[in-house]
Amino acid sequence: MTDFLTEEQLAVRDAARDFAQSTLWEGIIERDNEAKFPYESIKKMGELGFMGMMVPAEYGGSGMDTVSYVLALEEIAKVDASAAVAMSVNNSLVCWGLEKYGNEEQKRKYLTPLAKGEVLGAFCLSEPEAGSDATSQKTIADDKGDYYLLNGTKNWITNGGNASIYLVIAQTYPDLKHKGINVLIVEKGMEGFVVGKKEDKMGIRSSDTHSLMFTDVKVPKANRIGADGFGFKFAMETLNGGRIGIAAQALGIASGAYELSVKYSKERKAFGKPISEHQAIQFKLADMLTYINCARLLTLHAAKIKDAHQDYVSAAAQCKLFASQVAMDVTTEAVQVHGGYGYVKEFHVERMMRDAKITQIYEGTSEIQKIVIARDLLK
Ligand code: CAA
Repeated sequence: MTDFLTEEQLAVRDAARDFAQSTLWEGIIERDNEAKFPYESIKKMGELGFMGMMVPAEYGGSGMDTVSYVLALEEIAKVDASAAVAMSVNNSLVCWGLEKYGNEEQKRKYLTPLAKGEVLGAFCLSEPEAGSDATSQKTIADDKGDYYLLNGTKNWITNGGNASIYLVIAQTYPDLKHKGINVLIVEKGMEGFVVGKKEDKMGIRSSDTHSLMFTDVKVPKANRIGADGFGFKFAMETLNGGRIGIAAQALGIASGAYELSVKYSKERKAFGKPISEHQAIQFKLADMLTYINCARLLTLHAAKIKDAHQDYVSAAAQCKLFASQVAMDVTTEAVQVHGGYGYVKEFHVERMMRDAKITQIYEGTSEIQKIVIARDLLK
């Protein structure tokens, strides 16, 4: 399944695999139990160039293509889905948007430290009453001349506690609906910006998910990305690429669970032989591998057409829809292959099953992906 990849792409994948296998396994169960953010590992990922993979070198990034990014993200997610989502949000939602639509000053001041991995970014779209229905933004960015006065609450923000730079989507002209929305760069420490409670989640427990509160935060006009009213389009465009990242994360969770299942099935004996010699298990492993390979091809296809500057909106939604379903199915079967051992923490697959579920929810639920795909095919 790798014959169409270049030597450079394979080298990036192998570097990510080496890092994930040597560094991220250690303490993974404790981090999940204690909901502890892998801060040191994320810092190392930054030093290795994994936090700004597609950003050009002049802005501190690695200057790689989306295919390399997908390959690296899969390897990180195979071991630690929480580290993977921090990486995915920083690369796809924060760095990509700043690189594509930020001005020179914003790129020097904000993108460069983000791409180098010196600081972490967060993408703030979701609100208590605006999840799937993203046009219904209640956070207000009131135009006060040379600054915006920002008021509102954001929910379920990945990297919310550990980030330093936040891209905040907010409504400036409610009458214009989605065409009145802006995106502002907000720095941690700006007066009136408070990081709220950390969510106690079912899965990706060591990722850092918070609500954020903004009360009369003065955000300089210079921190608006793009033209007045461009914020919703910015969010949608950014999420298109983000969906390829979440597909890669889902793929990693599925392939991690699959690899553990193959290993376990060769070691565990039942009815006088390794369970891998029972057809009931073989059928499961064969299904897992086939679905994972389908998901990988869809995801690499979306990455490839994005790199070729073709329309990838539907392809991104398709790979996210399919890979997240595969992650759920494969991890559930992985628990089944492990039997009772699969239900306890030390065998890892129960965590992977919990981690898989979020890939069907964030950056657009599976139902939202179907809307995106259907609109595209009917247009
Ligand atoms: N790409 C580019 N533009 C898009 C787009 C897309 N995928 N989807 C919509 N748009 C544009 C439309 O073209 C339209 O622009 P114009 O008016 O200029 O033509 C504008 O956005 C409004 O579109 P719609 O009228 O279609 O809006 P809608 O309200 O009917 O539906 C939606 C839009 C597709 C449902 C959208 O709201 C959506 O994608 N919702 C899901 C939001 C989401 O993914 N949230 C995830 C939160 S972030 C997160 O999870 C990050 C994390 O921390 C991990």
